[in-house]
Amino acid sequence: MAISSTDIRQQFIDFFQKKEHQFVRSSSVVPHEDPTLLFTNAGMNQFKPYFMGLQTPESRRAVNSQKCIRVSGKHNDLEEVGVDDYHHTFFEMLGNWSFGDYYKKEAISWAWELLTEVWTLEKDRLWVSIFQDDDESGDLWKEHTDIHPNRILKFGHKDNFWEMGDTGPCGPCTEIHYYTGDDPDKQSAEGVNALAEYREIWNLVFIQYNRDGEGNLHELPEKHVDTGAGFERIVAILNGKSSNYETDLFIPILDKIVEISGKSLEINDGIPHRVIADHVRMLAFSLADGAMPGNEGRGYVLRRVLRRAARFGRMLEMKDPFIYKLVNTLSGVMCSAFPELKEKQKHVKKVIKAEESSFNETLDRGL
Ligand code: SER
Repeated sequence: MAISSTDIRQQFIDFFQKKEHQFVRSSSVVPHEDPTLLFTNAGMNQFKPYFMGLQTPESRRAVNSQKCIRVSGKHNDLEEVGVDDYHHTFFEMLGNWSFGDYYKKEAISWAWELLTEVWTLEKDRLWVSIFQDDDESGDLWKEHTDIHPNRILKFGHKDNFWEMGDTGPCGPCTEIHYYTGDDPDKQSAEGVNALAEYREIWNLVFIQYNRDGEGNLHELPEKHVDTGAGFERIVAILNGKSSNYETDLFIPILDKIVEISGKSLEINDGIPHRVIADHVRMLAFSLADGAMPGNEGRGYVLRRVLRRAARFGRMLEMKDPFIYKLVNTLSGVMCSAFPELKEKQKHVKKVIKAEESSFNETLDRGL
């Protein structure tokens, strides 16, 4: 039986609340206060002042589901979106957090407990990567979980040292990957961080440095845990699907696109439908959080994403504004977790429709 995304989000939160974590709401996807970022690109953004020792958190343990956008800067997944099944411009990142409280041992053993005991994922489909110099994490995986030691792999800086941008809090990480392929006997270590069937589902970052403007690393006053689990990927895996688009987070939006356009998912392998379904989420959440389309910076990114969705719409012969018509459906899917979508629904639709109309005129003139 399918497990709903709403239940899965709640199970994650409940699990960590039982381990004395305080639930914290997602911060805005528009980081009005952080000049180094156009969009919130990770759960840790709102906690930067705690990591830097500049502010004291209410609780030293937190759990949340953060709205993230990765279409600009260091983390940019735009070109993969819709072509593959698991990259998005907008996604949710489930996280458990330690602000100078627990560290590697607890982070590792709790992640394993949730994945294998609560969600009962098959252990012989799970792989773990660690930073090449972080033998401590390798030993903790061996001592505190029952993962087979051959499934713990070492990688370098690119894969296992996490940084939010050119500057800021950062540190080595250990990632958990899940083999989504049909034949578990075909698995091999070479597939991890290389093939799409080996899907990274959770990143445990051990924040211990701050990188300054000159690129130098400084030890932070305390050590912290920043975890990010890809919500859409986990929802897909727990429902036995290899595509995030085959979950209740996307199906209603894809169905609506088919209904409006009269074009089935067979057109162009469903890429236009998937791109549009992805992009409307990015647009609606950023508009609901106060961003506006424009000619520079954040506004320009928003405009480009909207135009990209409109161009994919043309592949479905959609010449009139239609993206705005998906907003009610999206809000039905997401508003229990993010009520701002319902509250700002009218505004979001109005802005999208106006942008679509003016872009369509430009396109028609150009064509
Ligand atoms: N900051 C890490 C990431 O974004 C883990 O939350 O992957």
